[in-house]
Amino acid sequence: MDFRDQRDVGAPCFRRQGRPHSGDAAAYDQNRVLGHRDPLSVPVVRGTCPGHVFQRIGSSGSRVASYRRHFRRATNPGSSLEGAGRSGGDRHRSTRRGKMTGVTQLDLRLAPMAGVTNAPFRLIARECGAGLLTSEEIDAKALVEDNAKTRALALHLPEEKPLAMQLLGADPDVLAEAARRLEADGADRIDLNMGCPVAKIVAKGQGAALMRDPLGTAMIFRTMRKAIQVPFTIKIRGGWDDRTLNAVEIARIAESEGVDGITVHPRTRSQQFTGQAPWDVIRTVVDAVRIPVVGNGDVASHDDARAMTEATGCAAVMIGRAALGRPWIFAGSDVAREDRARIIRRHVQLIEDLLPARLALTQVAKHLAWYSTGLPGAARMRPALFHARDAEEALSIFWSVW
Ligand SMILES: Cc1cc2nc3c(=O)[nH]c(=O)nc-3n(C[C@H](O)[C@H](O)[C@H](O)COP(=O)(O)O)c2cc1C
Repeated sequence: MDFRDQRDVGAPCFRRQGRPHSGDAAAYDQNRVLGHRDPLSVPVVRGTCPGHVFQRIGSSGSRVASYRRHFRRATNPGSSLEGAGRSGGDRHRSTRRGKMTGVTQLDLRLAPMAGVTNAPFRLIARECGAGLLTSEEIDAKALVEDNAKTRALALHLPEEKPLAMQLLGADPDVLAEAARRLEADGADRIDLNMGCPVAKIVAKGQGAALMRDPLGTAMIFRTMRKAIQVPFTIKIRGGWDDRTLNAVEIARIAESEGVDGITVHPRTRSQQFTGQAPWDVIRTVVDAVRIPVVGNGDVASHDDARAMTEATGCAAVMIGRAALGRPWIFAGSDVAREDRARIIRRHVQLIEDLLPARLALTQVAKHLAWYSTGLPGAARMRPALFHARDAEEALSIFWSVW
């Protein structure tokens, strides 16, 4: 029997683990010597001419057609949850791992962002050099209840691997069942959202509200950990508010319950996005646990990412808002204007290819608005963008200020 079965959740054990629940032990030990590195790190070759991933998808019309079929099936009541499949994921991963020459040391990851980090944006981020990708938050209850929109959110393509799927919820059994389904559907790891600050979410005890409930959270960790074989990670905040700065407490409980990694966005729930992210909180978590810790918050350049890594000792850096309208932030060097234009065109094409029409136009307008940030005339152009009748019209409005 698993030793975790015998422990009392009411009194979480803070014993340090020998190694994580899943993953290769030797690799883990070696990684630990290197400073708590994440065994699922993706060495990414970054260059000034992104496009290889998209070209693979673009050259395979049948794969896009297959994704669309899955999307239709997912949004069609009564169908089973089925993603774009897992075939090809390992091949893709090993190909990337094979290209070690010139690998940038920084492990930069795309942060989960609701309404943003869908398959098209994740693919663009990967194309630009992002490591591990994470889905937007997926409501565990809605997934288990076979909600069509939620099933559609969970769809992904083999090119996205390695991909983490993030769950939102508070009921251990529902979260465990949702995690099982996502794993069966090809997720490379499952992440638990413990940071969402939205009032209606925390009112249900979910997201950042979990930071206020260490014992309930320990039960969730234990139940989810037992439910799946793939790595299980959590994304936390510094705490609920200034009086409850308990990131270290939650991190230690997580480690003792077999959680494989922790991402820390160090602002409290009360801070939302105000002020500067206090990176010293990330450092305290890194010092408190032996599992990999990913730093997140206010990283807007490679220099920032390096500074965060040096200041905190984090194993990887997660970038959110700075990637909006600037997915080339993941590339190692400056991306030429014509390459940026190419990325924008391809992003729009991916949105049109992969998302249903009702969603696609809003997504195109939203992303083009972000891509126009800082361009002269952008503010005047944006209302027209949101009134465009189709993606082609939106693009021509956008190019007028590019
Ligand atoms: C539009 C938006 C949506 C977000 N959605 C999620 C989410 O679904 N899950 C999550 O864990 N964090 C979410 N976040 C928080 C980000 O993942 C990240 O922690 C935060 O933006 C701080 O990082 P940054 O300074 O790099 O943006 C969201 C942030 C934004 C701006």
